[in-house]
This record gives sequence, C-alpha cells and structure tokens, in this order.
Amino acid sequence: MCGIVGAVAERNVQGILLEGLRRLEYRGYDSAGMAVLSDDARLNRRRAVGKVAALEASLDAGPLEGRVGIAHTRWATHGRPTEQNAHPHQSGESLAVVHNGIIENHETLKAELESQGYVFTSQTDTEVIAHLLAREFNRTQDLLEAVRQAVALLDGAYALAVTHRSQPSLIVGARKGSPLVVGVGIGESFLASDPLALLPVTDRFIYLQEGDVVRIARGEPVAVFDAAGERQERSVHTYEHGDGAATKDGYRHFMLKEIHEQPQVVAAALEGRLSERRALIESFGSEAEAIFSQVRQVHIVACGTSYHAGLVARYWLEKYAGIPAQVEVASEYRYRRVVVPDGTLFVTLSQSGETADTLAALRFARERGYVGSLAICNVPGSSLVRESDLTLMTQAGPEIGVASTKAFTSQLVALMLLTLSLGRLNGMDESRQAEIVQALRTLPGAITQVLGLDGAIETLSMAFAEKHHALFLGRGSHFPIALEGALKLKEISYIHAEAYPAGELKHGPLALVDSEMPVISVAPNDELLEKLKSNLQEVRARGGELFVFADESVRLEEAEGVHVLRLPHVDEALAPILYTLPLQLLSYHAAVLKGTDVDQPRNLAKSVTVE
Ligand code: AGP
Repeated sequence: MCGIVGAVAERNVQGILLEGLRRLEYRGYDSAGMAVLSDDARLNRRRAVGKVAALEASLDAGPLEGRVGIAHTRWATHGRPTEQNAHPHQSGESLAVVHNGIIENHETLKAELESQGYVFTSQTDTEVIAHLLAREFNRTQDLLEAVRQAVALLDGAYALAVTHRSQPSLIVGARKGSPLVVGVGIGESFLASDPLALLPVTDRFIYLQEGDVVRIARGEPVAVFDAAGERQERSVHTYEHGDGAATKDGYRHFMLKEIHEQPQVVAAALEGRLSERRALIESFGSEAEAIFSQVRQVHIVACGTSYHAGLVARYWLEKYAGIPAQVEVASEYRYRRVVVPDGTLFVTLSQSGETADTLAALRFARERGYVGSLAICNVPGSSLVRESDLTLMTQAGPEIGVASTKAFTSQLVALMLLTLSLGRLNGMDESRQAEIVQALRTLPGAITQVLGLDGAIETLSMAFAEKHHALFLGRGSHFPIALEGALKLKEISYIHAEAYPAGELKHGPLALVDSEMPVISVAPNDELLEKLKSNLQEVRARGGELFVFADESVRLEEAEGVHVLRLPHVDEALAPILYTLPLQLLSYHAAVLKGTDVDQPRNLAKSVTVE
C-alpha cells in the first residue's frame, strides 16, 4: 500500500526521503514522488511511474535541494498509476500533500471546490485534500489550523503530510484510519507511515493516535494535538527490533530470509510465556485471566494468511480447549448481522495491525457485547493493538516480503498459547497441557531440521514452474495449511492454485486431475492419515502427480508420479506449524524459477490499509 516519508532537518532531505521510500518499497506501490521546499521557499517536485529507482533516476538528472520535504509511494486506488496521479499533489505552486487512505466523499468535495474555481489535474481522491488545504490556508494563514479545518471535512481514512511555502520550516501531519509515526531526531523531526522508513535517521518514535494532528518544525519540539484540538504529550518509544530487518542479510530475497528466521521467531514468540507445564495466561495482559474466565466461545476475525491461522486455531480450540470457535474473513464479518452469544471473546489476527477490514471489524465488534477483544499482532503501537482490550505480540520482527511467512508461524504459536490458556480455565487435561508445552520447546529444533530440506524442495519445485494450476490437499487442522500453501503459490508465482479438504475431492475437484495437475499434500501421522492416503490413491488413479510432505513414520512409498519428502515427527498438535514450512519453500522456489518479483508480487501490498 501507499507509503509516506517527511523530513524537517538541518541538512538536505532528498537522500533521507529517497532512502525512506526504498525502505517502504516492500509495501507494494506503482509510482513514487517527492516535493522539497528550497531554502528560498520554492516548492519543487519530481514524480515517476514504476519503482523508486525511476524516481531516483529523475532526481539524478535534476536533484532537489532543501531542508523540508515530503515523499510518497502510491498504490493506485483512484486513477491509473500515471505521473499525474502520483503524489505529492499540489494546489498551485504553494502547497503539497502526500496521502495514504481513501477519501470517500471526494466527489462531493471536488464538485464544491470546482465551483469555487479550483482546477483538478489528476483522477485521485487526494487532489481534493490539496485544494481543501489551500482554501483553508488562504482563510487562516496557518498550516496547522488549515489541516485541522480540512480534515474535519473528510470522510474516510487518511494519513497526511503537508508542506506550504509560506511556512517553509515545518510540516503538518494528520492521521485517521491510516498509520503515521513521528520520528524524533536531534534537532530534526520526521514523519512516516512505518518506522522502518526512518531507521537510518532515528530509533525514537511517537505513534500518533486516531484523529491526531502533528506539527514538526525546525528547532522546535514536536507538537501533537488530539481530535478535539487539545495539545497532548504522547510518549516517545524506542524501536527495539534493530535495523537488521531492512536488509536481506545475504539471502537472495527477504522472503527466503524470513522463512529461515522461523526457528528464532518461534522461540521469541514463546519466550517468557511458558511455565514448566503451562502457558502463562498473564502473557495476554493483566486483565486476561478475568476476561478469559468468562469465555464460552471465540470469534476470530482476520484476512488472508492471518485468516488461515485463525482456521487452524478453530481446530485447536475445539479439540484441546473444548471451546467452540467461529472464524471469518473481516470484510464479510463487518457487514454481517452478527449474533454474539454470552461469553464470547473477539479475537483479531494481523501481522501489520493496520489492515482496514480487520480494524473496522474490531470497531464494529466493540458495540456487540463481547466479553473482551484480543489482538494477536506483530506491530507494537499499531491501531489494532491500541484499540483492543488484550494483546499478544507475536515478536516475529518486521516482515518485509509481501508474502507472509514468519508472521504466520508466530501467529500459530500465539494461538496455541491462547488454546492452552483458555483450555486451562476450561478443564483441559493437565498432562496434555504439559506435553504440548514440552513439544513447543522443541519446535524451533524441528523447524531447523525442515529448513535443511530446502535443497530437496528446490528440486521438487522444478516440476512446478511450468504448470498453470496446482491442487493442495489436507485434512483436519491441515486443511488450513493447504489453503495457506495455495495462497503462497498464487501470490508469488502467479500459478493458479486451489486447496481442498482431501475428503472433498470426489465431490468435484477430482474432475480437474490429470497428468498436468500437480497435487500437493501434507500427511502428518494423525488420526486422519489412512483416510488421506485413500484420497491420494484417488488422485494417482487419475494420473495426477503427487507431492507429499509426510511424517517420517508414515508408510508411503516413492513411485512413478509420487514424490515423498519426510519431515521429523512432532506432537500432532503442532504439526500444522511444521508442515507450513515446506509449502513456503516450494512456492518460493517455484516463483524464483518463474522469475517473478518474489518480495513485491504484482498488484499486492504488504499492509492493506484501504477497504
Ligand atoms: C499474506 O501472504 C498476504 N500478503 C495477505 O493475505 C495478508 O496476510 C493479509 O493482507 C492480512 O494482513 P495482516 O496480517 O497484516 O492483517
């Protein structure tokens, strides 16, 4: 999705802004731009379609000089990815704005502004904001006041950074529904939609809250005002993930690096959250025990990969904790007439904590009588975290690849901790709790073993790269893993893939199976294994080529058209976590062979902050 960077510094800001944009590239975008105020108060702008490298080339040809500037990567929503539609947008030669989000009443505002003589040069909703701000500045002669007046007229979601040549030493920012942070430097201040963008210049951040308006000015402290216009002191947080996440560390892609980080990620997600034989309920917050003890069922809401993690949790919560669970994609949930039985906990899952539909679902749920809300999230300070009653941070560290990998496994670990915590309060067998706790401790080691299969999986992937379709099969808690495997393959290799519970095959999808249809299955040694094997026979009998990831103890022989890769044995409760890895690697290698943009697949964004 779109990215914002802004800087008020004691040095030329072009390099800071450009590096910030590079660091936001992972979010997905299709054009980029920058506006810098020169020391003689002239507003100069460069914009380019395509990658940040195209903008850089244009800046090489004509550098921008100045100590105040704003920059943006745009993911097209209103109007095609063209230079005219790229941000920053200007109103005349005086004011420039960059914007993330969507303005829903832009058509009405545009008609009003046109009738007042403002001329539009793009198809974007953002240009409305530029002219509104200019109109309000003409009235107030104060940029902070102009922003306040203008945002009051906007319906929808926004994070903004605005600069004006009449106040050449400051930038004003505002946020509602889209994230914006202030980077606090020494004598310098910055704005960004994601702290990662600013790590080369600061590790101290203020996470702005809904409705906040902020003024950053040279030589002055950061001034934050809440939605009511009251000056607020917001705390400054030190970014603790280090900057290593922004580099590939010798790996060819961020995605591969993040796949290989999973042993450490799982260990981090468990750290301090287990006693000898139990999961510690307090890890979910000081109110957790009081809320969890009222829980009789759970509603889980998420999108994409996070939704798949929720689907696994449904099996776990019912099987181990004896608690019914319902899982739904956020974009459906938020528009449904939801019935909430007494004692229901509302759980959101999100890597970014800023996914627009998931956030809207949480806000919708607040009015529905849940016993409480829990966010399982990877980004501290994100909107979802701030607005939930309870939180569990997944501790995966920043995930840069658009395709979610380590965030998914860390969500599964968090969901197992939730299962054990709710299970404990609901009479789950104590020795089973202790077994799963023990198995969680050995999980990083088992994951490391699976990563050792990387070479063999790369070889398998060669059978895929030329295919147009693939089927993924799983049963029980491994059906969501098959769904996640299919999503990964689609996302990064653009091979069409579908996932089915293996028992559904003969109810339709079997008609698709022939020698051109690779069928990938996960086969842990669980109670459904024999049934799964029969389903695989049905595929083989129709000439389908099978790729099976199986527990080392499973009797399943390699044969013509049947490829079997053995995984170490783990407690069946944790098998969904382990079996995720080979499917991630398979998709990764297939995508590399196809030559796609693995870390930034076409049309996709890392953080989906619009509906
Ligand atoms: C995962 O590979 C996807 N890129 C996508 O489905 C993602 O999981 C989804 O957009 C939800 O994001 P979130 O976890 O940040 O809420």
